[in-house]
Amino acid sequence: MTDIVILTGAGISAESGLGTFRDAGGLWSEYNLEEVATPQGFARDPAKVHAFYNARRANARGAEPNAAHRALARLQQARHGTLIVTQNIDDLHERAGSRGVLHMHGQLFRALCAACGQRWDAPDIMAPDDPCPACGARTTRPDVVWFGEFPYHMERIQARLEAAALFVAIGTSGEVYPAAGFVDIARAAGARTLELNLERSAGVFDATREGPASEVVPAWVDEVLAG
Ligand code: APR
Repeated sequence: MTDIVILTGAGISAESGLGTFRDAGGLWSEYNLEEVATPQGFARDPAKVHAFYNARRANARGAEPNAAHRALARLQQARHGTLIVTQNIDDLHERAGSRGVLHMHGQLFRALCAACGQRWDAPDIMAPDDPCPACGARTTRPDVVWFGEFPYHMERIQARLEAAALFVAIGTSGEVYPAAGFVDIARAAGARTLELNLERSAGVFDATREGPASEVVPAWVDEVLAG
């Protein structure tokens, strides 16, 4: 058991200017998640949902990875067994140089055909009547996992949690399952657990280091690589 499994949340992208969800002024205080992040909301008003993700796609396009994203990429280059699982749908981990990132809530820059399951790189602006490039149906949606839908890669994530030596949660409130339960799976399988967050979250960890990700994550990575 040598591998490190890292789970990131919106907090790692906060200092890149992308909003979190549940902090003061977070996305869920501006938008009704029922309307923009559920299959029912999409069925009711696809134009509103596309507008929500078009705005987030433009935001993410204009953002840059921060020192925390870059530190995790450095860690992966030195420790090839390090897996990054993210709840985030932005591409800042990849743009910082990380590889093999598992986006359990999907990706903002990917599109999905609800009729045939085809996936492709999303255009900057998506609209309800965009035709699917494979089947032509006009049921295209962001390739994002909404509330009530199954997160992606769960079997792979479960297997890696059960084999991890260390589980680290970064910038996540621990409010949304199944991600919030990863620390319990890892601990039960014998891993040490660490939380890096602006403030202690709802999760139970062996240790918590409080502070902004852009400071706390590089400091932790330097420690691991010096060890
Ligand atoms: N550095 C580190 N942590 C931070 C920072 C920062 N600069 N700013 C905020 N945080 C922490 C907050 O303390 C909080 O614990 O980031 C977390 C943000 O919590 P949420 O807004 O709930 O985001 P997240 O945990 O990623 O939400 C999980 O909920 O709505 C769904 O699909 C959505 O993936 C999202 C999921």
